[in-house]
Amino acid sequence: MVASYSGLLTAICALAGSAAAVTPLKVQGKDFVNSKTGDRFQILGVDYQPGGSSGFSKDSDPLSDGDICMRDAALMQRLGVNTIRVYNLEPSLDHNKCASIFNAAGIYMILDVNSPLTNGYLDRSAPWTTYTNAYYKQVFGVVEAFKTFDNVLGFFAGNEVINEEATRLAPAYVRAVIRDMKDYIAKQADRAIPVGYSAADVREILMDTSNYFECDMKNSTSSRADFFGLNSYSWCGDASYKSSGYDVLTQDFSNASLPVFFSEYGCNAVKPRIFTEVQSLYGEEMTQAFSGGLVYEWTQEENEFGLVKIEDDGSVETLVDYDNLQKQFNKLDISRISASNDTQTSVTPPTCDPSLITNSTFYNAWNLPEAPSKVSDYIKNGLPHKPVGSLVPVTGGKISQKVVDHNGNEIKNVELKVLANDAVNTPSALNADTSSNSSTSSATGSASGTNTASSASGTATKTNAASSLNGFPAVTLGGLSGFFMLLASLL
Ligand SMILES: *[C@@H]1O[C@H](CO)[C@@H](O)[C@H](O)[C@H]1NC(C)=O
Ligand SMILES: *[C@@H]1O[C@H](CO)[C@@H](O)[C@H](O)[C@H]1NC(C)=O
Ligand SMILES: *[C@@H]1O[C@H](CO)[C@@H](O)[C@H](O)[C@H]1NC(C)=O
Ligand SMILES: *[C@@H]1O[C@H](CO)[C@@H](O)[C@H](O)[C@H]1NC(C)=O
Ligand SMILES: *[C@@H]1O[C@H](CO)[C@@H](O)[C@H](O)[C@H]1NC(C)=O
Repeated sequence: MVASYSGLLTAICALAGSAAAVTPLKVQGKDFVNSKTGDRFQILGVDYQPGGSSGFSKDSDPLSDGDICMRDAALMQRLGVNTIRVYNLEPSLDHNKCASIFNAAGIYMILDVNSPLTNGYLDRSAPWTTYTNAYYKQVFGVVEAFKTFDNVLGFFAGNEVINEEATRLAPAYVRAVIRDMKDYIAKQADRAIPVGYSAADVREILMDTSNYFECDMKNSTSSRADFFGLNSYSWCGDASYKSSGYDVLTQDFSNASLPVFFSEYGCNAVKPRIFTEVQSLYGEEMTQAFSGGLVYEWTQEENEFGLVKIEDDGSVETLVDYDNLQKQFNKLDISRISASNDTQTSVTPPTCDPSLITNSTFYNAWNLPEAPSKVSDYIKNGLPHKPVGSLVPVTGGKISQKVVDHNGNEIKNVELKVLANDAVNTPSALNADTSSNSSTSSATGSASGTNTASSASGTATKTNAASSLNGFPAVTLGGLSGFFMLLASLL
């Protein structure tokens, strides 16, 4: 029995080895902070939406195929990324491999809880028609599927819901969704996973929007947003802090009482993109107001915002934008941008008051709608038939897909490195050129999976605007099923 006992021990060690990886982050004042070290965390991110907004269905989402996640996480490690944002998730799918891979790679995830399917989102023009029990199967389902993963940085309760077409009451509904999610997390999760909102860059109402969500309400403290994302494309080409209007944004958010970051950036009006905004965003001028950002977006789709191009067979071309962004990331002084600052972490929010709202068209009351009838039961007892997510062992190593650079030269030995516990991926941690002299790491050997590059998603076929989720396709969703598949697959 010695052999199998040691086999078991190995298995346990492997599990232990992959069980921790990143440390959960928390919000303190206006910074994201590492819950163990107290270091500040700034987002060096990419928006991860292979296949565009249509690369999502009930059967597949960006975190449901481990081989694809392995490939992309390895290439993101090499780029220097520490966070991805994923827009559309189907709670009933098995996300364990992907979430565990990004965790092992030292990469956090910000997850949108909405989906474009029926009952998956709030209708901005009539939110009361979609603020329903059925909607919360999607919202709480995503929370359940991911709540156990330490690399979940936070959830977006909404993306660009409030714009010129939104009804005046939309802010109150989104704030109610934040409330319900935070009440659910407080009761059903082991840690206070942050919940925020991602705004369109509509300057006339931008500050009203952030003020509406960040202010404190004595009678509903949980409805306050924990962070604020801004989708902004105002820096194009070789612009400057002033010409891009970043100076105005920095001024505007200098008094913010919560972490603010670009949930999308990377204007492509001038090509190729050279990403000079990176030095500004993480530089002395902006760092007080912003906690970094996420570049839109990982894969090349019809709207041409990609850093990499995915071929039908799953092989990858790293585009010149990828190299340009990597060079900018490599110039950053990571120890400076992760320095903690007591002034930043001790900021407190203002109390909600109509004087915070300046535009007369913007809703200036905080009488939030009551939650749908079953929500208090869901909060108390958990969502019925909920998905269960849990870490699985991740073995690093060479990825199975071929990678070429933008000159067509093969990049060899692209591999996923399983980082030490509590480590975060940083630029130049894995330096640029994996094709030369990369030290092949340890005994972990070759990649986890088999060579099924066949299920490659991500072929760009559909157009989707940068503000991706607003043209919801008319897809009907059948009954929710398969929640138990995850559980079964774990046993
Ligand atoms: C108020 O917001 C609306 C958009 O909702 C905008 O059209 C208008 O210009 C804004 N007014 C002012 C004074 O900023
Ligand atoms: C920030 O707060 C300070 C002090 O309360 C105030 O003087 C200043 O005008 C505020 N700045 C902005 C852009 O709101
Ligand atoms: C800490 O943050 C404050 C503003 O939030 C800033 O004025 C100050 O320069 C920062 N301190 C350091 C050492 O960076
Ligand atoms: C909570 O306080 C806000 C004002 O801050 C008010 O508009 C709202 O009606 C109050 N809600 C309840 C349930 O008392
Ligand atoms: C790779 O290693 C060889 C010999 O060890 C060395 O001559 C070469 O400069 C190295 N290349 C890089 C990019 O470090």
